[in-house]
This record gives sequence, structure tokens and C-alpha cells, in this order.
Amino acid sequence: MKKIMLMAATAAFVLGAGVMAPADASAKSFNVKSCKACHKVGKKKVGPAWKDVAAAYGNAETLAAVFKSGFKVSDRKIASSNSKWKHKAGLMTAQYKRLIKGHEDEAAKALFAAVAAGKI
Ligand code: HEC
Repeated sequence: MKKIMLMAATAAFVLGAGVMAPADASAKSFNVKSCKACHKVGKKKVGPAWKDVAAAYGNAETLAAVFKSGFKVSDRKIASSNSKWKHKAGLMTAQYKRLIKGHEDEAAKALFAAVAAGKI
């Protein structure tokens, strides 16, 4: 009996370790908190207020599609129609490459979720 329990515990440990692996990988995955340095929901900061971004795109799918197609400045709804933000597009391009590329759907959904929650 003791031996069986020990085996079960070992199996659980091994399985547990298997489950841990993706958790480690996700440490490098998308984290919306990284956007807080430059964005707020209701007010512009270094970048535009996310409620204005959400209003310009309408839904997460539209924003995700722009992220997936390379996030060209001419495709950006805010920067392409506002010279003040266009001027700062390079700053956002760097963040796109560093934080969003490979996580386009998550990033777009996180932005709309933050707007719905009223905070990042
Ligand atoms: C270092 C500052 C900085 C960080 C960090 C940052 N942004 Fe930005 N963001 C900007 C600036 C500046 C603009 C305005 C220029 C532009 O729109 O391209 C902007 C604009 C945007 C836009 C509007 C694009 C458009 O023009 O339509 C979106 C969407 C966006 N950011 C999403 C994010 C997300 C998501 C994150 C976190 C992964 C993030 N930003 C992190 C500075 C930043």
C-alpha cells in the first residue's frame, strides 16, 4: 500500500513537472502590463488613450489584423490620421516588435479588455 502511494506521488510529481513547462514558457509571453509605461485607458500618456484606440478600431479582430499585417504606419488608424501621433510612430513600432509580434491576438484582446475594465 505504502509503495503504491509512493508511486502515485511520483507519478503526480512527474505529471506536475510536465505541466510546469508551458508555465515557464509563458513567462516570456504577452503581458499587457508592459504597455502601462506609455498608455492609459482614459488619458493620453506617451501614447494615445486606449479608449480612443478602441473607438478607432471598433473591435479586437480589426486591431489584431493590423498587428498581423505588420502594423504599418499607413494602416494604423490613429497615427495615419493624426500628425502628432504619426511623429511618434517609431516609438510604437519598437514596442510592436519587442512586445506584440507573435502575440497579436492576445495583445488586441488585452487592449479591449483593459478598456472594458477601465484600467490596464
Ligand atoms: C515606449 C512607449 C510605448 C509602449 C511601451 C507602448 N506603446 Fe503603444 N503607442 C505609443 C505611441 C507613442 C503611440 C502613438 C504612435 C502610433 O500610433 O503609432 C502608440 C500607439 C499605439 C496604438 C495605436 C496605433 C495607431 O496608430 O492606430 C496601439 C494599438 C498601441 N499603441 C498598443 C500598444 C500595446 C498593446 C502596447 C503593449 C504591448 C503598447 N502599445 C506599448 C507608445 C508606446
